[in-house]
Order: sequence, then structure tokens, then C-alpha cells
Amino acid sequence: MRFFLDTANVEDIKKANDMGVICGVTTNPSLIAKSGRQFEDVIKEITSIVDGAISGEVKATTTDAEGMIKEGREIAKIHPNMVVKIPTTVEGLKATKVLSSEGVKTNLTLVFNPTQALLAARAGATYVSPFLGRLDDISQNGLDLIADIVEIFEAGGIDTQIICASVRNPIHVIECAKMGADIATIPYNVIEQMMNHPLTDQGIAKFQADYKAVFGE
Ligand code: E4P
Repeated sequence: MRFFLDTANVEDIKKANDMGVICGVTTNPSLIAKSGRQFEDVIKEITSIVDGAISGEVKATTTDAEGMIKEGREIAKIHPNMVVKIPTTVEGLKATKVLSSEGVKTNLTLVFNPTQALLAARAGATYVSPFLGRLDDISQNGLDLIADIVEIFEAGGIDTQIICASVRNPIHVIECAKMGADIATIPYNVIEQMMNHPLTDQGIAKFQADYKAVFGE
């Protein structure tokens, strides 16, 4: 499983990129708004930091296929690594069909059931983003959705890649990896949680103490 960072915070993106663990970034309108910056400014900066797929979403207020196609073409022009993120609606599918036929990479977002994922794939989506955390939030098992999509895509020989999104904790990441999902897009705080273990910290402290006791500083 590969990892994308799920944020528009460039400081967090630099930190995760320096760790060498991410190969892409996903943003959404809420994350761009949270950054307090203009879409194109922040997206351009992200492309200068990470050499990998960068998802930029069409405007939240653009709901028709024609508008999404127009914006998608503009987003794709920002950088060769750009992926156009499109909501999984009927209009979104139409836009995906056109953009994918032009060679524009797409990420179909807000996927909450396997049939949406299957239709997105058939429309030519490069990636689908099922949101597991938001399903957990309403007492449905988000991991079951990932399992279903992995099974369906494997059975059908579908090469659309699955980005596990709305990841809230390291258990989400572990379970998605065990299922064989392609990618998890992870908030920076979850990357930190994935790395932390008290025994690692205690082990370092003990090694330092033992070393210093014999050899000094
Ligand atoms: C990623 O593509 C999504 O925009 C993101 O994972 C949503 O996460 P949230 O449910 O924590 O907002």
C-alpha cells in the first residue's frame, strides 16, 4: 500500500515528504479553505514539494458536467502530476468520461457504496476515494466498504486504483493494507500516530543512558 498525505497544509506536506513515506497528496475544498490560501497558489506549491499525484478538486459550487470538464482541464494544466478530483454524481461521471478520454487523471471522491465505485471505474476514473471514517461516523462499517470495492475490482480486473480516504486512525491504515487497497490518504496526525511507540522511545533512552554511562557524552 502506498501513502498520500490528506491535507493542504504545506508545512505538514514538507515534513511527511522529508520522511520519504508519501508519494502523493489529496486536497478537498474544505482543506483548501482551512489553508486560508487561494487554490492555485497552494496547489502549485504542493506540486513543487511532492513528486507524485496531487489531487485538486473542482469547485464545490460547480455541479454540472460542463463546468467540471472546463475546470478539470484548467486543473490538469497546473502540473503534469495533477489529478482532477470530482464528486461521484451523475454529472461527475459524465465529466470523468470526457476528461479521462483526454488523458486527464481523475479521482472520484465521496464514494460511499461499492456501486458508486464500480460506476466511477467504468467512466474511466484513475482513482476512486471511498470515505471510511465518515461511514464509521454514522455507525456503518467503513472498512466493509473498502473490502467490497477491493473484491469487486479484483474480480472484474479493474485497474482503477482505490484510495482509502477519510482515514482517522492507524487501525484504518492497517486494515486497508491487509485488504490490498492501493493507497491510503492519511492526515499528518495519523502518520505521527503510526510512527509512535513508547517502547521505541524507552529503548532509545536506555541505549543513550547505557552508552553515556561507559563512554560519556
Ligand atoms: C480525501 O480525499 C478526502 O477529502 C478526505 O479523506 C476526507 O476526510 P474527512 O472525512 O476526515 O474530512
